[in-house]
Amino acid sequence: MKINCSLWGVLYLLATFSTFSLYAQKEDSFKKKKDFVFDLMAKMTLDEKIGQLYQCSGGGDITGPNQEKIPPVKQISQGGLGSMLNIRGIENIRKYQDVAMKSRLKIPLIFGLDVIHGYRTGFPIPLAEAASFDLEMIEEASRCAATEASADGLHWTFAPMVDISWDARWGRVMEGAGEDPYYGSLVAKARVGGLQGKNLSDTTTIMSCLKHLAAYGAPVAGKEYNSVDMSLSHFANFYMPPYKAAVEAGTATAMSAFNDFNNIPCSSSDFLLRRLLKEQWGFEGFVVSDINAIRETIDHRYAADEKDAAMKSINAGVDMEMVSTCYLKYIKELIREGKVEESILDDAVRRILEKKYELGLFEDAYRYCDQERAKRVINSGPIRSTSARMAERSIVLLKNENNVLPLSVSVKKIALVGALSRSSRDMCGNWSCADVDKVVTLYEAMKKRGVDINYNDGYDLETNQIVNLEQTLSEACEADVVIVAMGERALESGEMRSKGDISIPSEQQRLVSELVKTGKPVVVLLMCGRPVIFNEVRQNASAILCTWWLGSEAGNAICNVLWGNYNPSGKLPMTFPAHNGQIPLYYQYKSTGRPTSTGGWCAKYFDIPTEPAYPFGYGLAYTSFSYSDIRLLPGNGKDVHVRVAVDITNTGRYSGEEVIQLYVCDEVASVTRPIKELRGFNKIKLEKGETRNIVFEIKDTQLGFYDNQMKYVIEKGAFTFMLGTNSEDLQTIKYTLK
Ligand code: NOJ
Repeated sequence: MKINCSLWGVLYLLATFSTFSLYAQKEDSFKKKKDFVFDLMAKMTLDEKIGQLYQCSGGGDITGPNQEKIPPVKQISQGGLGSMLNIRGIENIRKYQDVAMKSRLKIPLIFGLDVIHGYRTGFPIPLAEAASFDLEMIEEASRCAATEASADGLHWTFAPMVDISWDARWGRVMEGAGEDPYYGSLVAKARVGGLQGKNLSDTTTIMSCLKHLAAYGAPVAGKEYNSVDMSLSHFANFYMPPYKAAVEAGTATAMSAFNDFNNIPCSSSDFLLRRLLKEQWGFEGFVVSDINAIRETIDHRYAADEKDAAMKSINAGVDMEMVSTCYLKYIKELIREGKVEESILDDAVRRILEKKYELGLFEDAYRYCDQERAKRVINSGPIRSTSARMAERSIVLLKNENNVLPLSVSVKKIALVGALSRSSRDMCGNWSCADVDKVVTLYEAMKKRGVDINYNDGYDLETNQIVNLEQTLSEACEADVVIVAMGERALESGEMRSKGDISIPSEQQRLVSELVKTGKPVVVLLMCGRPVIFNEVRQNASAILCTWWLGSEAGNAICNVLWGNYNPSGKLPMTFPAHNGQIPLYYQYKSTGRPTSTGGWCAKYFDIPTEPAYPFGYGLAYTSFSYSDIRLLPGNGKDVHVRVAVDITNTGRYSGEEVIQLYVCDEVASVTRPIKELRGFNKIKLEKGETRNIVFEIKDTQLGFYDNQMKYVIEKGAFTFMLGTNSEDLQTIKYTLK
């Protein structure tokens, strides 16, 4: 006993000492950074300070009305540049860093790029990754992107985009995690964690950039760059959580959005950038504007001219200006005139220099420029296989009549139809940096499966008109099964790809109907970057897999799912509408005074149904699951109010994974609340016949909401908990919070 006590004592002392020494080390390096930056700033001229606030473009598209280009070399040599975007490759990066290293104070540049889903190894588009409901996998995918991008000399990505969107017309839904703020927050954390790792000085990590602050995913009528109009409490409850989560996860940077918010352009919003982000959330990194967004405050008719724009944005808290040159031209003058405090400039410069310090660039400006590492890492086996695993997990099974899938061993002859199945460029999706020549298309992967494949384009990729129908049909008649790749092209979603009609082209849909007439089972692979409308196909096809855009390993991943090497487990992170007129469509709508469920004179359409094609969280597997015995268990008397449990059984033919979803409804509240909100999920694997008891702990964060003063409150009273396989198919139980 005595020995034990002293052993515990020693262990306790050791633990305390090591915690203390870790803390001391942290304190020490924090102080070193502060001192270094302070000393450096003391040597900087006003022009050099202003230069740090500028980011110019080294290539790529400059979008928007301002097309101004600054010659970077001259600018860098005068110490007039802080960062460059749109530069790829170690040689290019070195070329500009060399110039910076010859400038008076030798302050290194940061190089940034939109590394959105993988780098040279393409990963599934972010919306597809979100369909996996697998946070570890999503983090690993971002880790891979950072590993490859940093090996190619990059320090910074403009990701993750954490904008919530309820509007499938908005083209950029492909870049986010879908419609749900709770899930979106978890994905935001996973992505920031994957990109930045534990320490920015690790050369396999890069800085993340939460974007776009704020509410960029809610443009009126889904029109890109359009105004946003929402109440502050609506923002706080449904759009804000992922931004806050990314800050809590330690994102190094944030991007101010193009749109206006509460009648102020986001890039001039003191409320969003200074009060909320920097003061309330304690964000320590720097804010970069979206491309030209500071100058565009003039087009918003909020700033009178470039000088006014510069004044409003820097005072609001934008630290770095992307591409337009309002800061470069006018900050000095504004300081002289007393319209901008020098302390505001200093704060922005400090934030930027501190990140350069954390990246280790002052020790060695070329520490990310290692050709040997680039050769070893980029497109390496482990990264490719992570991409393949991520891709398999992103696929969502929407329909599987008569268990057509997985393809049985008796399937010897396949008619493969659809020009999309051979398009490597499309497989990558939009916002891709992937090596197109290294993409495995569906066609190539199928050819390797050792079955007899007859291929036909089916439709023209450019015009979407049916081609060679007769031959396609006669080959389909000869096959055991028909597989049709159809949908959008990759560049139909993404920035500036808002659509007024999200239906799949009617000719593609007709082609499927013609193929169905052959009497053969028709399996549809839906390739898309957003929820799409495809009612004719939904009705006629035997099986449907939503494969989105899956990246470099797309073909292999799809084949693994088709043949059952991987049992699909994805769930839709966005509601799929049945009609354009239903948009914006989302599962967490409010009851209204005339709930839809009451029928008659209620919240519905006169001419189209209100039900979606597929609800949020929907997705099947090759096996089936049954839910039973939902029940309440006591909490812990502290932060866990109550626990809710359910039994789940794999009742089907294969082992498989299920995402058990927990939704909560606050029955009566001081403000109107949605009929349900996702507040937890658990992805588990169950063997054939296995039953598992799943328990969710209900904490404050699952029960509260922001009131009309943007204050987070938890109100006592009645709640309903709902557990199940998607947002509609749920078991319910009541609970009273006392
Ligand atoms: C505009 C986009 O909105 C933003 O997301 C992106 O990071 C910048 N362009 C830079 O490419």
